[in-house]
Amino acid sequence: MLTGIIKAWLTRSFRPFLFERKQTNTLDYADLDGLGLYVHIPFCRSLCSFCPYCKVRYEKGLAEMYVQALHQEIALVGEGLPAKKTVTSLYFGGGTPALLVDDLKGIIDQLQEYFIISEGIGIELHPEDITVDTLQKLRTAGITMISIGVQSFDQSSLANLGRKGSKEELAAKVELASQAGFTVIDVDLIFAIPGQTAEILISDVDIAFAHGATQVSTYPFIDFTFADNRCKPLPESEKKAMLKALVDHCRGIGKQRTSVWTFANPGTGRYSSVTRESFLGFGVSATTLLWEQFKINTFSVEAYLKRIDSGELPTALILDFTKRQRGAYYLFWSAYLMELDPVRFEKTVGVPLMQMFGLELWLLEKLGLLFQKAGRYFLTDRAAYYYHYLEQAYTTAYIDKMWRILGKEAFPKEIRL
Ligand SMILES: C[S@@+](CC[C@H](N)C(=O)[O-])C[C@H]1O[C@@H](n2cnc3c(N)ncnc32)[C@H](O)[C@@H]1O
Ligand code: SF4
Repeated sequence: MLTGIIKAWLTRSFRPFLFERKQTNTLDYADLDGLGLYVHIPFCRSLCSFCPYCKVRYEKGLAEMYVQALHQEIALVGEGLPAKKTVTSLYFGGGTPALLVDDLKGIIDQLQEYFIISEGIGIELHPEDITVDTLQKLRTAGITMISIGVQSFDQSSLANLGRKGSKEELAAKVELASQAGFTVIDVDLIFAIPGQTAEILISDVDIAFAHGATQVSTYPFIDFTFADNRCKPLPESEKKAMLKALVDHCRGIGKQRTSVWTFANPGTGRYSSVTRESFLGFGVSATTLLWEQFKINTFSVEAYLKRIDSGELPTALILDFTKRQRGAYYLFWSAYLMELDPVRFEKTVGVPLMQMFGLELWLLEKLGLLFQKAGRYFLTDRAAYYYHYLEQAYTTAYIDKMWRILGKEAFPKEIRL
């Protein structure tokens, strides 16, 4: 309801976001700057009940075919380029991408035939991935940033999520990773797990930083309709209190709020995979966001392999944005980073920010949710709380629906959001 009203207001239309089954092998990205790259590796040792991401149990033969297909997809996308294209970053997400640690260098090398990666290469790690040998291989492959899915250092919170590990073991993994020479060490934490208190969350943040994290990401626990959660997230009022305690604590210990969900040591780099103004995604479920187009690959590994084998991109759905929809989407992801740059907005959307959203910005400033500094707009902490709430509503209304359908059907005819 809330997301529907905001969407209609910002886009000045009741027209839904219409994702349609379409096929094209031509992507218009050659002139986009600020482009990021994302590669999805869907394999996991075992599947966590709370996790909504596109993942399957690891099988050696399937993983080998997947890597071959990834190389073909990268070639299909990259071969049209007139010259090497500079991109900001490359992120490997999953799933558990380090299960393919010996294949990562080949994938990076191939991407570097087409792209110059200017800001770094990141990867998501499961704590079980963290060994001296794997860390060394990741460094050799050129990876500079890591994100470790700790979720919590508290054993009972972990058990409620269905994950194993003790505080000491997990802290030792973060410590080991922090000594391997990466520039960014992010630790993912989930909060509002049943039984968890603000004290436990704050202690989780402290343990992460004390053992070498440069950034901590704190995600509110979301109960996706297609997940199989034994425990349900804590109510909104408790989430709100935990978030406030978290923000106050992180400010108190001198950490910088670098997005709605992340806190970091001042001056360190940011780990942020798809919260970017445009990106190219490879692999199952990967999304691509270009000038006026949002594209989603099929979630089915089998369908992905088949499509690639026929020489075509594995696209499941494409959304062709109207100008205002593109502008609204731009606002949405910038709000996540808590800052909005009018120059970048105009460059990407093609319309001056004030012309499209002057009224909204004026109103948000008057309400104390936004302030201006050096030609940019910044969200206040109060606005970040509302955004947190909105983000969860958006996840439940849009992402949940989209991923639920795509998890069942490889190429649905259309999805209206
Ligand atoms: C692709 S996952 C995890 C990476 C790695 N495979 C692992 O399990 O450690 C990325 C992050 O999303 C977050 N996440 C997953 N499911 C979530 C949920 N239901 N609610 C909130 N955050 C979630 C977790 O913090 C997780 O580390
Ligand atoms: S949380 Fe990580 S390990 Fe668990 S299913 Fe999701 S991607 Fe796989």
